[in-house]
Parts: sequence; C-alpha cells; structure tokens
Amino acid sequence: MRIEDFELIANRRLTRDYFILDLESKGNLPEILPGQFVQMRVDNDRKAFLRRPISVFDVDYDKNIISLLIKQVGSGTKAMSRLSKGERINIIYPLGNCFSLGPENTRSLLVGGGVGVAPLFFLARILSANSHKFKFLLGYQSSEDIIEEERFARMGDLLITTDDGSYGYKGLVTEHPELYEYNYDRIYCCGPEPMMKAVAAIAHSGNKFCEVSLENTMACGYGVCLCCVVDTTRGKVCTCTEGPVFNIIELKWQI
Ligand SMILES: Cc1cc2nc3c(=O)[nH]c(=O)nc-3n(C[C@H](O)[C@H](O)[C@H](O)COP(=O)(O)OP(=O)(O)OC[C@H]3O[C@@H](n4cnc5c(N)ncnc54)[C@H](O)[C@@H]3O)c2cc1C
Ligand code: FES
Repeated sequence: MRIEDFELIANRRLTRDYFILDLESKGNLPEILPGQFVQMRVDNDRKAFLRRPISVFDVDYDKNIISLLIKQVGSGTKAMSRLSKGERINIIYPLGNCFSLGPENTRSLLVGGGVGVAPLFFLARILSANSHKFKFLLGYQSSEDIIEEERFARMGDLLITTDDGSYGYKGLVTEHPELYEYNYDRIYCCGPEPMMKAVAAIAHSGNKFCEVSLENTMACGYGVCLCCVVDTTRGKVCTCTEGPVFNIIELKWQI
C-alpha cells in the first residue's frame, strides 16, 4: 500500500455524469490487480474531508498512468470532475483484494451496471492478456449513459442493455438471454446491489462460479474504521480489506 501524489494529465467528460481521470505517477507503478481500488483525497471540496474509494479502471504500466472512471453523485465526485490538468492528486493504493482468474480457457461473462463497469474493464485487460474468453454484458439506464462503447468493444464482445430500450437490448441485464445460456464457467459482476443480488441468484441457481465487487460505503479504506463491514460465512469482515471482491457463496445474501 502506497500513499502518493499523482499528476492529473487528463480529465475527460464522457456523459453528463461520467468522466475519466488519468493520473500519472513520477515513479514506476506497483502491480495493481483487477478489482483493487484507490482512496482519493479530495482537496478542492471542503465538505469531502474523507477520501473517496474509486476502482481502478485501467493501468498503463509503460506510461505509469492509472485511469479512474467516475460518476458524479455528490459533492466529492463533483469536486473531482472540476480538477484540471496539472493538478496534484493524492491517492492511497492499491487497496483491497481482486477478482480471481480461472484456469486457462475459462469462459467468463462480465456483468456490469452503471459505474460498476469500471473494475470490469481492467479485469478484461488481464483476462485478455491471459488468453481467456469473455463477453461483457453491460446495463445502462439509457443510450445517453453508455460509457466508452468503442473501448469496451475493442477489448471483447460487448452486449448492452438499456432500461428504456434506447440502445441495445431493452430491459435489465438480468433479463438478457445471454445470462441464461450458461455457456460460461464464471460470472464477474459489479453494479448496484439489487442488480448484483439478482445476478448472484441466477448464477447460484445454475451452480455457476460468481464473484461480485461490493461498493459499500467506506471511510478509511484500509481496515481501521470498521464502517464497511459485511456479513459472510466467515463472520463479519471489512469490505475494504477482505473485499471488495467476494465469491457469492461467501455472502449471506438470500439467493
Ligand atoms: C470499492 C469501491 C469502489 C468504487 N469505485 C467507484 C468507481 O470506480 N467510480 C465511481 O464513480 N464510484 C465508485 N465508488 C463509489 C464512490 O466511492 C462514491 O460514489 C463516492 O464516494 C461518493 O462521494 P461523493 O462525495 O460524490 O458523494 P456523497 O456526498 O458522499 O454521497 C452522495 C450520494 O451518493 C450516495 N453514495 C455515496 N457512496 C456511495 C456508494 N459507494 N455507492 C452508492 N451510492 C453512494 C450517497 O448515499 C448519497 O446519496 C466505489 C465505492 C467503493 C466502496
Ligand atoms: S473503510 Fe474503514 S474499515 Fe473498511
């Protein structure tokens, strides 16, 4: 775990609510695993005195750049959206555990909703590097919310659902036929909790391996404040240190 000042080299607005920050380190990046997150200090907002947890969206080790995909929901993320090129960003990283990779030739379905697509993109980069087969199944509210479609499509097969049917399959990701074909060895999922629970129930009924990345509210991000506790078969554990990735069979969800 490091604490480091990065330089913001790009702040790119994607949609009304979403933007990507590219942060450059002056040194070499340590290994960062898919599913891990950073705790970002928000210096330009007096209300956000706690750091904010943000998943690693992408890493470029050649250029020492970490990219973060952020959805503006409150004052902290709004302040992040106002950051300008050249500003210093202090982060603690890499934090948390990671998605586990299956053996060679594992076929995976990466199911994401909203900003939950962020850790799945970085996971896809690692799956690709390990020659694993995978597809994305990503759900958004409407066509206006779709993020980096070309970038995802370049990485792997991409299926999109929209709640209002303005693009792709009309309905929720859990209604998409692909999820029921069970042609996959693994499902990886990140998004709103009701969506993850519904995906977990489908995986559970098909006896499929499934990992979810939880986005519980966090304060410290490294196991000190105990505000991110989740109930598991191992007892109550901190999402920030034992997660954010959990196998669904560990979680005490009614699935
Ligand atoms: C492990 C982890 C990884 C995350 N990865 C990302 C990411 O890659 N990109 C991203 O944009 N966000 C991510 N989040 C969520 C992000 O941390 C919160 O959206 C952010 O802290 C909100 O800060 P704020 O000051 O803008 O909002 P606040 O003013 O703190 O809250 C504004 C509103 O957002 C709600 N909110 C706050 N935190 C969350 C949350 N964790 N989930 C859902 N609603 C929340 C609040 O209940 C409130 O209604 C992640 C969270 C965790 C725990
Ligand atoms: S966020 Fe403080 S213990 Fe997890």
